[in-house]
Amino acid sequence: MNLVLMGLPGAGKGTQADLIIKDFNIPHISTGDIFRAAIKNQTEMGKKAKSYIDAGNLVPDEVVNGIVAERLAQDDTTKGFMLDGFPRNLVQAKALNKMLEDDGRQLDAVINIHVAPDVLVDRLSARFMCKNCGASYNRLYHKPKVEGTCDVCGGHEFFQRDDDKPATVKNRLDVNIKLNTPLVDFYKNQGILHNINGEQSIEDVYKDVREVLVNL
Ligand code: AP5
Ligand code: ZN
Repeated sequence: MNLVLMGLPGAGKGTQADLIIKDFNIPHISTGDIFRAAIKNQTEMGKKAKSYIDAGNLVPDEVVNGIVAERLAQDDTTKGFMLDGFPRNLVQAKALNKMLEDDGRQLDAVINIHVAPDVLVDRLSARFMCKNCGASYNRLYHKPKVEGTCDVCGGHEFFQRDDDKPATVKNRLDVNIKLNTPLVDFYKNQGILHNINGEQSIEDVYKDVREVLVNL
């Protein structure tokens, strides 16, 4: 199963990805996570990406495409994969098609999680992450089961992503909203787009996602 998970910032890609990988044994490839790990490890690529991410802009296509090509060349992707946050524009979508075609592969489905932009501003400003394992929570919608303790690792320290601060959120949304429609149309024309209503509880969104995946 070769999947793309798309949606505006905060639509719930990461949240749904965590649920998908528990059910379907495929690697989760999040370009955002790859960049955050590179920033943390202060690699050359991380240093380059940081200025774009902190401003809410996209990292240049040639950098992202290179990273994804390298990741998709790894053996664990031959039985399937789930891309999260890639592609984000037509240049990346076409590059992805080419990478897969060259390898005799193709996408089976693009899951597009749709949430109205005003809801996203609230979600992003209320998001916080576990400092130890990176698990994502939300002050309004998804609190840890025990207050102050991470459900996943038991950690007690949390932080807010730099790009969730109000000044960056607006630009992140503007940049992505502009690119979203052509990307949706591109996959609609290929007949592999599945629109999911992301304005439901996390569990109900997943029910809809799962329904698509089991019927592929
Ligand atoms: P990335 O990390 O991919 O950020 P993003 O696309 O902005 O998406 P998010 O991770 O913010 O949101 P999400 O959709 O995963 O939502 P989540 O599940 O956390 O990328 C970061 C940056 O890296 C980009 O801005 C760019 O600079 C760069 N980058 C990455 N990929 C790139 C590419 N291909 N090209 C160029 N640059 C690239 O949910 C959000 C919150 O809402 C959470 O608190 C969650 O608990 C809550 N929530 C989730 N679902 C629900 C629900 N159903 N109801 C209520 N709350 C919910
Ligand atoms: Zn944790």
